[in-house]
Amino acid sequence: MVRTIDDAPCRLTVCRGCCCGTRKKVPGVDHEAQLARLGSIDDHAARRVPMRTSKCLGICFQADVVVVQPSGTGRAAGGRPVWLGRITDDELLEAIDDWIFEGGPGLAPLPEALVDHVTSKDAKKPKKPKGAKHSKAEKKKRKKDKKREKEKKAKAEKREKKAGKGGGAA
Ligand code: FES
Repeated sequence: MVRTIDDAPCRLTVCRGCCCGTRKKVPGVDHEAQLARLGSIDDHAARRVPMRTSKCLGICFQADVVVVQPSGTGRAAGGRPVWLGRITDDELLEAIDDWIFEGGPGLAPLPEALVDHVTSKDAKKPKKPKGAKHSKAEKKKRKKDKKREKEKKAKAEKREKKAGKGGGAA
């Protein structure tokens, strides 16, 4: 029996959830135009690359997220889906277009412009460095200061009450 390679074209999954594609998270970008651009990519065989949008893919800190799935031939050659984050510049869309035209995952090397944008569904949001503001000692000091301030206020109120009682005869 002759095994044939499924020659389906590459596919694109474009995140359009709570953050990706929103002006709130990624301002200054024409998300609609970018979506239309991604939806009009053809491969070297002049086949339109199927694109679908997805709800949140779980790595919002990487908005806008685009996943490039390999073609059938690309998958047979070892290509796997490539997750790309921070796809907000038009040049990056051009790079995706060029890459798919060349064959995409498994068949063509990742364009230089996309190298720093490779991510994964398991990407972890980088933690903010613990500055002095977040250190344990600083938290303890703030708590102590707050308590002292509260006591001071209570004492002042007590004194005022006392003074109000005493001075009421005038
Ligand atoms: S909205 Fe795109 S990863 Fe959450």
